[in-house]
Amino acid sequence: MKKKISILLMAMMSIFIIAGCNSGGGKVSVGIVLPTKDEPRWVQDEARFKAALEESEYTTEILFSQGSSAKEKENVETLISKGIEVLIIAPHDGAAAGSAVEAAKKEGITVISYDRLITDTDAVDYYVTFDSIAVGAAQGQYLIDNAEGKGVPLYLYAGAASDNNAFLFFEGAWSVLQPKIADGTFVIANSSEAEALKDKSTLTRDELGKILGQVTTNWDPNEAKNKAQTNLTAAAADLKGDVAILAPNDGTARSIADVFSTDSAVTSYLVSGQDAELASIQYIIDGKQSMTVFKDVRTLVQDAMGMAIDVLDGNTPETTGSYNNGSIDVPAKQTNVIVVNQENVKAELVESGYYEASEFTGLD
Ligand code: BGC
Repeated sequence: MKKKISILLMAMMSIFIIAGCNSGGGKVSVGIVLPTKDEPRWVQDEARFKAALEESEYTTEILFSQGSSAKEKENVETLISKGIEVLIIAPHDGAAAGSAVEAAKKEGITVISYDRLITDTDAVDYYVTFDSIAVGAAQGQYLIDNAEGKGVPLYLYAGAASDNNAFLFFEGAWSVLQPKIADGTFVIANSSEAEALKDKSTLTRDELGKILGQVTTNWDPNEAKNKAQTNLTAAAADLKGDVAILAPNDGTARSIADVFSTDSAVTSYLVSGQDAELASIQYIIDGKQSMTVFKDVRTLVQDAMGMAIDVLDGNTPETTGSYNNGSIDVPAKQTNVIVVNQENVKAELVESGYYEASEFTGLD
């Protein structure tokens, strides 16, 4: 009998918890705001949050901003009205999100910037992130390690200038690529701004901004595709052949790769990526994308929720460093990344339990 009651109690508790996760009108302790459902990266974050929250006793709600700062502000206001105590937010636009988190801060809510840093405001308490400089450096290093000979045409692409990470990724890539551009291993194929700065090993934010302004994809695979098409149309024959492409993430890498693979004057291409998106893992298995940087979202989710729970319990979250956001030094917890290519894709992404083998074809 006792056992039966406890089973019943457990069942009731889990219903309560599940109801809490998808909370409708009631009180919510942790609000989570993600930038868009249109990119698999952020749908993955949602899935990993949901998995982590299955066991949580705290009520949470996840809202998407669909690439709009106005919608993001509305989401934050909705969550404030539900009584959240902690806000976990990956901003669509790092600077524009300032006013949303300032509104939260005014209500005494603890703000955790998630993956992307919210800039130019003091209303950010913590930052959980991957090592984004290392992401960019790994992308650049892969191109260096796998390019053959001298004078290899290098096509540069970057993320959205409204995302602080886009600067960090490019900065990391530039730190390793620049010496190899200076010594003639690579020849910049598509950016006069990068060409003008090719002898500078460290770029200022303004200089990075100039290059980004020219080679941005805005994190949009379509924009990336159009830019790649325009670049290839303009490129002389000596900028084709065996080429290297710095692509900032998987979504843009796939569409850029599709463009390069249909140009008959391009004999081979190396192309970087990041996020270990399902479709890009298949591209890597098929030899259509060279590498990706695996950012284990489970760790980021764990760190963010761990911080949130510390705050709810009245404890001070542990941090490992800080990031200056243009206004303050934001205490941060940083996670390492893993470089994935055809050789280790199975071990890192399937045997590790991140994906199922059945989600891919040709994986031996
Ligand atoms: C994230 C990347 C993502 C990109 C586009 C960046 O801030 O760190 O993982 O691919 O945004 O959404």
